[in-house]
Amino acid sequence: MSIKPIIPAVRTENITYAVRDIIVLANEVAKTGKEMLYLNIGDPNIYDFAPPKHLVEATYKAMLENKNGYAPSSGIKEAIKSIEGEANRKGIDNVLDIFVTTGASEAIDIALTALVNQGENVLTPTPGYPLYTAIASKLMMMENPYYLDESNNWQPNIEDIKSKINDKTKAIILINPNNPTGSLYSVDVLNQIIELALKHNLVIFADEIYDKLLFDGKKHTSIAALNKDVSCITFGGLSKNYMVPGFRIGWGVVSGRQEILKDYIEAMNKILRSRLSANHPEQFGVAPCLEGDQSHLVEANEKLTKRRNMTVDMLNAIPGISCVKPEGAFYAFPRLHMKHSDNHFVAELIKETGVVVVPGTGFGQVPGTQHFRLVFLPNEQILEKAYNNIGEFYQKYLDKYGN
Ligand SMILES: Cc1ncc(COP(=O)(O)O)c(C=O)c1O
Repeated sequence: MSIKPIIPAVRTENITYAVRDIIVLANEVAKTGKEMLYLNIGDPNIYDFAPPKHLVEATYKAMLENKNGYAPSSGIKEAIKSIEGEANRKGIDNVLDIFVTTGASEAIDIALTALVNQGENVLTPTPGYPLYTAIASKLMMMENPYYLDESNNWQPNIEDIKSKINDKTKAIILINPNNPTGSLYSVDVLNQIIELALKHNLVIFADEIYDKLLFDGKKHTSIAALNKDVSCITFGGLSKNYMVPGFRIGWGVVSGRQEILKDYIEAMNKILRSRLSANHPEQFGVAPCLEGDQSHLVEANEKLTKRRNMTVDMLNAIPGISCVKPEGAFYAFPRLHMKHSDNHFVAELIKETGVVVVPGTGFGQVPGTQHFRLVFLPNEQILEKAYNNIGEFYQKYLDKYGN
């Protein structure tokens, strides 16, 4: 019998997910018995964060009441109504459609699948969240990366965006607050992006999954609220703001002009119907979350502010590392001022110190620059130890390999 391997589809060739890929090495190191300090996964629940109790209770009650069948394809009406209320509170009052999905990830996947043909392109932030690259590969669409400007608090570089738009560009993706940099976009930058979107008939994909995790009294502005004519899908969900990434509940809110968006909305709904529904009982947690007690956020943001301050102070004190101060989410994207690849640096760091971070290469960056992404969700003791380890290790690394 001849043995012929099963050949996977070409579309999977470029799919990488640096955040999880690094785990393979971390697991090998952990097996040696080394103490590991995990600063790599954006999951609040593996650290000292928990969801509000009323969310868990509402879900449990729905399960007991046997809301365990399929949900409507776009989501249960209680959830949709409350997501619309939330959009209105953020100033988005021209909502055309709302759909509840298996995490914001599925909403993003559906919105891109319904919009972009093979060979067309979407402007994606660099650095940015690797999910977009994975979906781009799957759809065999072109990524059209634009840079975030580190010297300007990681704001999108408008001139770079302008220079990258071409006649095959269908959309622009914004992650605000940002993963991996933690930056929050200024209203001025958002308005300039709206102008470009209107001029070139682009759909704005506003990934606002971290919009309630904010520091220093900062306010988040939804780009969709700034202009009624611009075509926008705002993505949100329970994963981060309400600390239940395992529930897999997210959504997309479509806003803009009906006559421009109606065919696109129907195309998304065709896909929504074909995949049946998102998790059903978990959808009963949406309204209690969005309309109920928000005190867990006050607590979470206080903790995160302390940890963010510590992160920025300790990393900026290390010669050869600089770190822009994050204003939201729970990530920082410090720069390593050296010539070696951040992949090499991070692999050595994990092996030597057990500190697990993700190489900047996994998120994209300006060529010739090196970074790593860390999550400042762990408690102060863990962070202090990790940053001390990074400082000591970096000096040794540069002594060994030169800078
Ligand atoms: C920017 C961004 N968008 C979307 C997601 C995925 O969210 P969800 O868990 O709702 O699928 C993440 C998760 O880390 C993220 O960082």
